[in-house]
Amino acid sequence: MEVSFITSAFQESHYPPPDRPEIAFAGRSNVGKSSLINVILGRKKMARTSSTPGRTQAINFFLAGERMYLVDLPGYGFARVPFQVRKSWGSMVETYLMKRPNLKAVVVILDIRRDPGRGDMDLLGWLNKYGIDTILVLTKADKLSRQKSTARAKLIREALGELASDSPTVFSAKTREGRDEIWEKIERIIAV
Ligand code: GTP
Ligand code: MG
Repeated sequence: MEVSFITSAFQESHYPPPDRPEIAFAGRSNVGKSSLINVILGRKKMARTSSTPGRTQAINFFLAGERMYLVDLPGYGFARVPFQVRKSWGSMVETYLMKRPNLKAVVVILDIRRDPGRGDMDLLGWLNKYGIDTILVLTKADKLSRQKSTARAKLIREALGELASDSPTVFSAKTREGRDEIWEKIERIIAV
C-alpha cells in the first residue's frame, strides 16, 4: 500500500480537500494512537510517537493507498499541558469532528489496563450525539496475559454501556494483534 504524510493542520483552512473518505484516531494522551496508525499503515515511523504524553499536537493527515485519509488527532487528558493550550486542543479537535464532511468514523482508543476516564466518556458521548460512527480499540494488550485481556475487554465494555456501539477490538502495536480486525471494520464502514 502506498502511504504518505499529507499535512499537519492547526485549523480548518489547512485540511486537505475532503476528496476521499477519512478515518480519525482519537484517545487519551499517550494511549498509543500514533503507534496504532503506524501498525495500520505498515510503516514504523510515519506518525511520530513518544513516551512523553502530548507528542501529537496538530491534526496530522496521512494518505493510505490513495483511497482514504487516516487522521492522527492530538490526545486529551494530559494534565501537565497549560489550561489555555488544553482549551485550544479541545476546540481544534471539536471543530475537526464537527466540520469534516468526509469523516466516516472515529477509532476510539483505550488502554486495556485502565478503566475508561472522563475524557473517554465525554468523547464517546459526543460522537454518539452527533451520530459519528465509532470503532472501539483496546490497546497495549501485550502488557496482559490473554486471559486478563479478555476479562478486561468484557469489563470495559460493561463500563461503557450504551456508549460501546460495537464489540471492542483487542490490539497491540507491539505484536500487531488486532490489526486485521481494525482494517475489516474500517473497510466495512468505508464501503457504505
Ligand atoms: P500523544 O500523541 O502524545 O497523545 O500519544 P499517542 O496516543 O500518539 O501515543 P504513542 O503512539 O506516541 O505511544 C505512547 C507510548 O506508548 C510510546 O512509548 C509507545 O511505544 C507506547 N505504546 C503504544 N502502543 C503500545 C502497545 O500496543 N504496547 C506497548 N507495550 N506499548 C505501546
Ligand atoms: Mg500521537
